[in-house]
Amino acid sequence: VIAGPCCMVLFGVTGDLARKKIMPAIYDLANRGLLPPGFSLVGFARRDWADQDFGKIVHDAVSQYARTPFHESVWDNLAEGFRFVPGTFDDDEAFDLLSATVDQLQRERGTGGNTAFYLSIPPGFFGQVCEQLARSGLATPRDGSWRRVVIEKPFGHDLKSARELNAIVEGVFPPDSVFRIDHYLGKETVQNLLALRFANQMFEPIWNSNYIDHVQITMAEDIGVAGRAGYYDGIGAARDVIQNHLLQLLALTAMEEPISFQAEHLRAEKEKVLASVRLPKDLAKATARGQYAPGWQGSEKVIGFLDEEGIKKGSTTETFAALKIEVDTRRWAGVPFYLRTGKRLAKRVTEIAVVFKRAPHLPFTDTATEELGQNAIVIRVQPDEGITLRFGSKVPGTQMEVRDVTMDFGYGSSFTEKSPEAYERLILDVLLGDSPLFPRHEEVELSWRILDPVEKFWSRQHAKLEQYPSGGWGPTCSDEMMARDGREWRMP
Ligand code: BG6
Repeated sequence: VIAGPCCMVLFGVTGDLARKKIMPAIYDLANRGLLPPGFSLVGFARRDWADQDFGKIVHDAVSQYARTPFHESVWDNLAEGFRFVPGTFDDDEAFDLLSATVDQLQRERGTGGNTAFYLSIPPGFFGQVCEQLARSGLATPRDGSWRRVVIEKPFGHDLKSARELNAIVEGVFPPDSVFRIDHYLGKETVQNLLALRFANQMFEPIWNSNYIDHVQITMAEDIGVAGRAGYYDGIGAARDVIQNHLLQLLALTAMEEPISFQAEHLRAEKEKVLASVRLPKDLAKATARGQYAPGWQGSEKVIGFLDEEGIKKGSTTETFAALKIEVDTRRWAGVPFYLRTGKRLAKRVTEIAVVFKRAPHLPFTDTATEELGQNAIVIRVQPDEGITLRFGSKVPGTQMEVRDVTMDFGYGSSFTEKSPEAYERLILDVLLGDSPLFPRHEEVELSWRILDPVEKFWSRQHAKLEQYPSGGWGPTCSDEMMARDGREWRMP
């Protein structure tokens, strides 16, 4: 579906996200023919640039990070719609100029006045920018046009700050015009979770505590925090990705079937899950955290977190976090969900592993099933997108011996179509005004409600931050957390 006439105003054009994700995604959308004719991109920054200088910045980003091939004609067409407005966030005149630019684009390029404001800037500036958008009249739709605002996490650092931030943004834009990006929801495999569960007959009947033993959600990264120390230090792994990406994955895994995939229905089901989450009483036993020490990532020697440039001396920020939670509903009673994430782990992999109970009875000798594990459905979110089923099978030979085998579905081998990048899909959805993939404020609040007690508990426990060698699977306290429940983490 092609977006209707519109333009996008990008704040934070010199930032990493704009360069690596937003600008390339816009080009890729143009390349796929999904942007409307006359689409225009307006950059706003404290730089003494002309439109052409801004164009060069976008060109640079596109040539480095776009996923689709470069076509001169597509580029030229897109570049005709580039405008740049120099200014700071406290500069009324600059915002008036921005407003005039948006009006001019409506007249000259037929954008219809429809405008998305993408705030790719630190949340500390959201208030100022939203106020300026309100003051200059930019936030108010005119002549039947729409005005939307796109914000990126972090949506606060706890429940209180999330509420304050929301009050600022929703004080200017109505809730249905606020698009909060959680880029995990734009990933193909994450959406496929909905297809797997609700388009098939064979999974849903066993998707409950009668059959499922536990669920493991892993988001492992091999990279460290180099270059992002300023943001990461003091935030840590749990706030950075559990509060948003991992809890969203949990919600999609655990939710009931929505009435439809319209935003309100999907969000309502996710919210029910988040509202039903219960933290174990003893957080010392149900959580684990660590910080990466120097080590080896493959053949590369890497430094520890405390030696990274920009990290405060003696920082107690965690780069690994694991958490056991339960979902207090009939479907999930007694089924723990284990979430873990970490930087500088053995490899980059995100997966959801649904691990089944053992068969209630095995009509085999004990030795025949010695190597039989638990059945599992593993949704491989990235990088090798697909689904793996693990089950027992007879080992060829004259003896009866059963061993685990896997059956794989891989996107790469089953489809010729290529998945769009998460940002492409999400930006297109913003322009289309299609909001199911954007969490609403209630979800953000509910997620902080889950995390706040954990953070509070950890902040009283600074001493127990365990160092773990880079290139492994995290601190031993995380394995111990599983072992206490008689379980172990998968090695994806
Ligand atoms: C971001 C986090 O939201 O997700 C980063 O802030 C993390 O710390 C990134 O590296 C991972 O995204 P992806 O898509 O590479 O898994």
